[in-house]
Amino acid sequence: MSVSDEKAALDVSGIQKAVRWYPPKYDIRVEAVPIPQIIDPDDAIVKVKLAGLCGSDLHIYRGHEDVDADLTCGHELIGEVVALGPSFRPDATGRPELYSTLKVGDKVVSPFTVSCGECHFCRIGFTCRCIHSCLFGIPTLPGGQAQYARIPKAGGTLFNLSSLQSSSGSGEQPWDLSKLSDSSLLLLADILPTGVFAAMQALQHPKIAPILTGKPYPYGGFVPSSPVGQAQASTALQEGDKLLTIGIVGLGPVGVCATVSLLDILAGLGASQGLQYQVIAIDPIESRRTKMEAVYNAIDVSGKGSGRFAVASIEDGKKLASGWTNGAGCNAVLEVVGNNSALTLAYDIVRPFGIISSVGVHQEPPIPFTGRDVYNKNVSFDFGRCPVRAMFPIALEILLKRQDVFGGVGKEASLIDRIVSFDEAPQVYEDFDKGRCGKILFDPWR
Ligand SMILES: NC(=O)c1ccc[n+]([C@@H]2O[C@H](COP(=O)([O-])OP(=O)(O)OC[C@H]3O[C@@H](n4cnc5c(N)ncnc54)[C@H](O)[C@@H]3O)[C@@H](O)[C@H]2O)c1
Ligand SMILES: [Zn+2]
Ligand SMILES: [Zn+2]
Repeated sequence: MSVSDEKAALDVSGIQKAVRWYPPKYDIRVEAVPIPQIIDPDDAIVKVKLAGLCGSDLHIYRGHEDVDADLTCGHELIGEVVALGPSFRPDATGRPELYSTLKVGDKVVSPFTVSCGECHFCRIGFTCRCIHSCLFGIPTLPGGQAQYARIPKAGGTLFNLSSLQSSSGSGEQPWDLSKLSDSSLLLLADILPTGVFAAMQALQHPKIAPILTGKPYPYGGFVPSSPVGQAQASTALQEGDKLLTIGIVGLGPVGVCATVSLLDILAGLGASQGLQYQVIAIDPIESRRTKMEAVYNAIDVSGKGSGRFAVASIEDGKKLASGWTNGAGCNAVLEVVGNNSALTLAYDIVRPFGIISSVGVHQEPPIPFTGRDVYNKNVSFDFGRCPVRAMFPIALEILLKRQDVFGGVGKEASLIDRIVSFDEAPQVYEDFDKGRCGKILFDPWR
């Protein structure tokens, strides 16, 4: 152990401040709790520099998650490694690279769930369903709204921002992370990859393939070899058939990330293959719509292209989804809310053979569709948690381009509203729950 390691190990004993939630609901306290210790050889201890408050924290806050024990909140963190378990050593071969390269002092961001990097699900890219998956901020795994956090399976879970700085981005250019603010890097823990995921789930869906490839279904994707089919596939679609219409339901911080990511990808497709598209972004809260408009106005044309774009209330959104498509509805809807009214709206505005890409975290009661509803529209649903690790490179590219939106704090077009101390936690939880503020970060050391 080096001198700096010993010093770090000494630093991480004792008591720390943390934001804690008590059942049954709405009870947030700032408390002194023990600093977490290495308990498994694969663990790392991270000194938290910034922690996020997320819409997902609100589900527990509101008592919707059936949690009956107190817990340390939060699942979005960026910080510095201060202690590593014995699995981290230069000769840790045959394991994820970080077991042999991560050092005390490295700057890291943690995805919001643990992933080992060594199981089938991790290898295939479905990292949020790792066999060791565990969400930060539950009674059994204290969260990131603390001065220190324990990261299980840290060699598979963490991203080492210090080493990313010297590795390659797209086009073999090194990623220059030096211009990225820490507050924007925190968004890589969850909400920016989740926004990318919402967009990609829709755009990669086979039901969108006819529009992206110009070939009628099913010939835009995988088909068994068939000469008759190939002849069929050459049938040209008309211009109007190739107009892609996407709705976004929910413009909280995750919805804004989804919109910005979607627009960036669509602008790229517009430039490379002439894709025509239109996007309708919907939220019932006026301040959320105003933020989305300011964000859209701040993005230059390379990041949003020339497609039509509207921000709308629920009623106006329904009218646009119909009016812009001759009554057909949206080809895809991204649902970024997590309640049944949002799912119902998504169903109402999606067209037959459309796709609903849902990243909202849904609770009881059951989803609001009958078998007949889903049969009658041939609608496809994709639900679930974002595999942050798989989305990370695409999210990082967008983060680098979109510092105008993600880089600042508290400006008209900033996604992040404020960075506050833990003492303000009870108030900002309440404000965020009521939609009175946007994305809030905590500085645990203020
Ligand atoms: N799938 C994942 O991995 C993942 C990751 C992060 C967050 N989430 C989830 O994403 C959702 C959004 O998170 P957030 O931080 O943006 O939360 P948020 O609560 O700030 O935003 C939700 C927004 O939805 C709007 N809304 C409510 N009902 C609506 C309706 N019927 N139609 C349209 N809009 C409606 C609200 O006004 C609000 O602006 C949450 O459910 C969160 O748990 C999922
Ligand atoms: Zn989150
Ligand atoms: Zn795994």
